[in-house]
Amino acid sequence: MEIVNSAKDMQMVAEDYRLEGKKIGFVPTMGYLHEGHLSLVRQAKKDNDVVIVSIFVNPLQFAPNEDYESYPRDIKRDEDLLKKEGVDVLFYPSVQDMYPDGFQTYVQVENLTKVLEGRSRPTHFRGVATVVLKLFNITKPHRAYFGKKDAQQLIVIKRMVRDLNLDVEIVGMPIVREEDGLAMSSRNKYLNGEERKQAVCLYRALRRAEELIEGGVCDAERIKKEMEDVIKRYPLAEIDYISINRISDLGELDRVEDGNTLVSLAVRIGKTRLIDNMWF
Ligand code: PAF
Repeated sequence: MEIVNSAKDMQMVAEDYRLEGKKIGFVPTMGYLHEGHLSLVRQAKKDNDVVIVSIFVNPLQFAPNEDYESYPRDIKRDEDLLKKEGVDVLFYPSVQDMYPDGFQTYVQVENLTKVLEGRSRPTHFRGVATVVLKLFNITKPHRAYFGKKDAQQLIVIKRMVRDLNLDVEIVGMPIVREEDGLAMSSRNKYLNGEERKQAVCLYRALRRAEELIEGGVCDAERIKKEMEDVIKRYPLAEIDYISINRISDLGELDRVEDGNTLVSLAVRIGKTRLIDNMWF
């Protein structure tokens, strides 16, 4: 596996692949890899001739009160995991290389970023969209892979790609879960023993929503109330939001729309804020 540290070198490597007629699959990550990331890598390997993975903890998507400094990092372990998966190139740039002095250009996807995560994290998606566009320009992928765990991120990136005519196919991949249903996330590392046990409440609430919807219940208020009742059984859990939205424009729904409904929630377990969702 080739490790490339500068954007300029990465662009040259990617351009060479393109000149050779190779299809490039790209998996952007912030590292501290888990099975969720590896599922994206495996799909990228299946679909493309070469796979580029980036590891970059992007300061732009963290607010000053968030966990940029303490975000888990373990580059040696990540490198080993990616080598085992047969990744061709790891792009691992520095903050200075990605955001040189005087950097002042940002991508803002307007309305989709004002709801859900955007309400609690108003500058987050500007940081995500900006870095993802930069990473696309640097790694020149034909396809890029994102997990559905960050549902709004996936929807925002798809809209940016459409609105800015970017020539890359966005592939959304299913959430990978622990045995008890907790969605895999690098931030799960923050949970202590008791918090880890109670973190299952997000999945349990979503399963309740699933049961109701599969049983024919469409009323969003009723579904949200029953999800809230599930979460309230867990004393360490504090709800940030439970929401039912149209997938296409993230508008809030009164009634579940078949094939176009995102049920999502954010819950604090102790100091750790977790998100999860299901698509119906
Ligand atoms: O999902 C993530 O890990 C990040 O938001 C991403 C897409 C790598 C951009 O920093």
